[in-house]
Amino acid sequence: MAVEQTLSLNKPDATRRILVCAICQVFEAAGLRIVAQKRLHLTLEQAKAFYAVHASRPFYNDLCSYMASGPIVAMVLQGEGAIAKNRDVMGATNPANAAEGTIRKLFAESIEANSVHGSDAPETAVQEIAYFFSGLELVG
Ligand code: CMP
Repeated sequence: MAVEQTLSLNKPDATRRILVCAICQVFEAAGLRIVAQKRLHLTLEQAKAFYAVHASRPFYNDLCSYMASGPIVAMVLQGEGAIAKNRDVMGATNPANAAEGTIRKLFAESIEANSVHGSDAPETAVQEIAYFFSGLELVG
């Protein structure tokens, strides 16, 4: 299996409840290496640009307001099959449907405050990583 990189965000509910290290431990225990990481507070415009793919969805405005409501931690995870592995480790978008042991089952509060975001495909991983990081900031 190929070594991949994928974007992960710890959402405002995770930073507010001081869960960043607990969530990173789940990634690292799954063999995902954190090769870049930064804490930032998105403006509403930055959140809207990041989630532009969801612009037509009924939850878009609430999602963007939520993502701009507090600090997030952006990181790049690297490993064999990292994109799918990260999605497995995160669990289902709605924590009510998330499997035991997944981050969203362990920590998420709701479908909106679901603690983490992860890229869903190779193309989006490239775009999403570039939204937050330059190549110089990726240190394998
Ligand atoms: P995320 O993986 O960050 O991608 C888009 C986000 O929209 C998703 O996680 C959810 O947190 C959020 N969201 C809010 N409401 C819904 C919904 N009804 N269906 C899907 N995603 C939703």
